[in-house]
Amino acid sequence: MNQLIVDTKKLNFSYTKTRKDIENLELKVPKGSIYGFLGPNGSGKSTTIRLLLGLLKKQSGTVALFGELFNGKTRLKSLDKVGALIENPSLYEHLNAVDNLKIAANYRQNIPEGRIDEVLEIVRLSHAKKKKVKAYSLGMKQRLGLAISLLSNPELIILDEPANGLDPKGIIEMRMLIKELNETYGTTIFISSHLLSEIEKTCTHVGIIRDGKMLFQDTVKALKSSKGRKMMIDIEVDKFIDAMTVLEKLQKENTSLVDEFLQIEVEDKEEITVVIDALRAQNVKVYQVSIKNNLEELFLSLTEN
Ligand SMILES: Nc1ncnc2c1ncn2[C@@H]1O[C@H](COP(=O)(O)OP(=O)(O)OP(=O)(O)O)[C@@H](O)[C@H]1O
Ligand SMILES: [Mg+2]
Repeated sequence: MNQLIVDTKKLNFSYTKTRKDIENLELKVPKGSIYGFLGPNGSGKSTTIRLLLGLLKKQSGTVALFGELFNGKTRLKSLDKVGALIENPSLYEHLNAVDNLKIAANYRQNIPEGRIDEVLEIVRLSHAKKKKVKAYSLGMKQRLGLAISLLSNPELIILDEPANGLDPKGIIEMRMLIKELNETYGTTIFISSHLLSEIEKTCTHVGIIRDGKMLFQDTVKALKSSKGRKMMIDIEVDKFIDAMTVLEKLQKENTSLVDEFLQIEVEDKEEITVVIDALRAQNVKVYQVSIKNNLEELFLSLTEN
């Protein structure tokens, strides 16, 4: 059986009384996976990550890391096996990479001396290890942040939007590093992003969140096949009978009338305009068209950069 490295049940969190920011979230991150946590801005990705790391206190539900329920007693032991890179890493700009790593190593337990050179090697910063961080590019800073999270040789790495602000080269370097860590050391990687394209390229598994709720969670392979699925749309018109005739001519077979709306299946966004044009050509008034499938609509918002 595939072990779950992160397993949450009915996780809830609100910053304020007026709304739920995380609602009944069930995250399932299999061991050895690269798990993409995908959602638009403000959907709750960073909040979830803070809950996983115990930086925010959950209000109900459970979090298990490495098969062990997260609580006051187990928290530190579990977090020993986690490396995290959250938004911008806090680095000492006037110091070089080695000194930054030494300081970070001092906060942790039992980091062998040689580990600093190892992590610099892994993130490809050995050549610049004596350079002051203020002279680093953003991509180099991100990689140094990653190196810090690797010091304790973690089994799980959590990265919150690691591609944010990086140029295309930086993004590719980060992507390659993530894959390499996963393949070489079997590290489980949890990575958040608001870009579907980024997740598709890097990840084996994906969870899609919106308004604090999980909408889809499966392998990337399953996501791709569900993406090919047709989308449902609702159309409000004035003359149903005429509209039905038009749709029949367009060979729209599975047309149904639900609550005064015509419900049909289309292949993609382009086909929606074809349907509207055909209806208008027969003087059928179209009052509104709405995309039914939550997920499809979400994909569109995630694909548009
Ligand atoms: N400290 C806070 N106090 C109150 N509300 C907050 C706080 N931090 C976040 N929120 C709200 O919680 C919701 C989720 O925010 P969160 O930062 O987790 O989203 P996100 O998916 O990480 O977004 P982004 O892609 O912009 O990083 C948003 O509505 C946000 O406005
Ligand atoms: Mg965020």
